[in-house]
Amino acid sequence: MSPFLLTRTLPEDATEAALRADVLRGLTDSPKALPPKWFYDARGSDLFEQITELPEYYPTRAEREILIARSGEIAAATGARTLVELGSGSSEKTRHLIEALTDLHTYVPVDVSESALTQAGHALIAERPALHVHALIADFTARLALPETPGPRLVAFLGGTIGNLLPAERAAFLSSVRALLSPGDALLLGTDLVKDEQVLVRAYDDAAGVTAAFNKNVLTVVNRELGADFDAGAFDHVALWDAENDWIEMRLRSRTAQTVKVPALDLAVDFEDGEELRTEISAKFREGGVRTELARSGLELTHWWTDREDRFALSLSVAR
Ligand code: SAH
Ligand code: TRP
Repeated sequence: MSPFLLTRTLPEDATEAALRADVLRGLTDSPKALPPKWFYDARGSDLFEQITELPEYYPTRAEREILIARSGEIAAATGARTLVELGSGSSEKTRHLIEALTDLHTYVPVDVSESALTQAGHALIAERPALHVHALIADFTARLALPETPGPRLVAFLGGTIGNLLPAERAAFLSSVRALLSPGDALLLGTDLVKDEQVLVRAYDDAAGVTAAFNKNVLTVVNRELGADFDAGAFDHVALWDAENDWIEMRLRSRTAQTVKVPALDLAVDFEDGEELRTEISAKFREGGVRTELARSGLELTHWWTDREDRFALSLSVAR
């Protein structure tokens, strides 16, 4: 059996410093905000897995449907021997792709969540013992140092996670992905599509309240890591469709006037009654927009596949 390698490219103290800087900037900004990567501690990763199974949350099922239908074509088009997956989470849908990539030598899942990487890595090795799995604990928005592995390389970014970046961050991110591609390599990108507002809002505000718990988990992370005294019950989960920007915006709305202390930052933060903290955006796309954004970062879209209900798209692109 091949060994399961786990490399931490983010030192724990750097993660802690980044969290402090992000929280300080976010909570003293107007309007207040907290950046999304801090959602994914072990509990956050777990809650996200529950989200993927909610009846309202269609993206995971739609993307899985496309992967099942198209993995053979993706394998034929790329001949990938190394699969790098950014924000891999449970790697659950990726199994269909891994199965179809008959020449695959190494799988490199990249995530900030160590618990997700460890669980996914061990499950995969048990299923496909000859596969090398080299997991990286890393921030995909920072410069990535990938292990030396055989090409061609396929970089996958699934789940519509690209929509969690702001437009300027997306452009920088796509350019950095472009820099990872040599001739013959490719990018497989999952993008959720613009659709009926009700369907979108429900996907981010489910009846069982799992998304609300996920959103509030970021407060628990700040409490644990920075000694803050956020009362998650004193905030309401809010999901809104922003038609101008084509994104869902997630917020936490203070139920009362309150002051939250963050001892590690020597900070006291006042919230007005009803004041909102922005926690996450999830942008939705159209084919033309995806093609244009890819082109601006030096990538050329070669394939565009959607599910039967045109809710979600997978695209393949190559370096121009
Ligand atoms: N690809 C999976 C998971 C999507 S959820 C799917 O499609 O179901 C987003 C994943 O990205 C989470 O596992 C989270 O831990 C990871 N993530 C979020 N921000 C990240 C960052 N800046 N760097 C690396 N991983 C990140
Ligand atoms: N990548 C997922 C998405 O945008 C992440 C996600 C799903 C999410 N539900 C959420 C992030 C709720 C924050 C809050 O669909």
